[in-house]
Amino acid sequence: MKYKSVFKKFSKLDGSQHIASEFALKGIETIIRVENIKTIFEFGIGIRTIPYLIASFDKKYVYTGTESNNFCKNALFKNLEGVIDNQYFNHINDYSEYKGGKVDFLIVDGSFNDEIFLKKICHSNTIIMVEGDRSDQRDLISSTFPNSLYNFKISLYKNKDFSPFYAKENNPFVSGYSIFRLNNNFINKLKSFIDKIETSIRYKLRKII
Ligand SMILES: C[S@@+](CC[C@H](N)C(=O)[O-])C[C@H]1O[C@@H](n2cnc3c(N)ncnc32)[C@H](O)[C@@H]1O
Repeated sequence: MKYKSVFKKFSKLDGSQHIASEFALKGIETIIRVENIKTIFEFGIGIRTIPYLIASFDKKYVYTGTESNNFCKNALFKNLEGVIDNQYFNHINDYSEYKGGKVDFLIVDGSFNDEIFLKKICHSNTIIMVEGDRSDQRDLISSTFPNSLYNFKISLYKNKDFSPFYAKENNPFVSGYSIFRLNNNFINKLKSFIDKIETSIRYKLRKII
């Protein structure tokens, strides 16, 4: 698993206060390795933590991400120099510029509010991850895909002292993320059921550790 070293690397960079959590990176790595993922779209590349992680895998994935902020756009090219093969990596300023097809994995770590685009970019098997607590976007995805299977995943570990999210007093648990499985077939129902049990056990354990 590569997510730990990638999180540590990006924790030290300028702009790290907005990167995805270590737990979300672990979730992304697991989904890409376990599910049949070939194409990925991310709302909000930031300083490129996620495409860097994806580029570190042995297999190649077609990735497109949005980023409009100038600081991040400069960081994009610095942080991925020599790592990313341009054949597999596409940066666009805004999702309205997207010309590609439907994707297997959609990562939401930036703002948008467009049901039509969601329907355009997702197929019946797409998995959507919403990083952290983006309730507006979670609600939009739920109403756009009312038959999808929804899970909120939480971690049991706390932020390490190198993490941008570490706090000396009352150090919080690493933040969670949401998963939507658009295909509500039997296998996905089973996965969703297991996730629900896991999350409910973790909520209970959080009170005693
Ligand atoms: C939370 S940060 C993303 C962090 C990134 N995923 C990472 O792990 O390094 C959100 C980013 O999304 C970008 N963003 C937000 N809304 C956007 C939009 N509508 N179009 C393009 N970029 C957007 C912001 O500039 C910001 O850099």
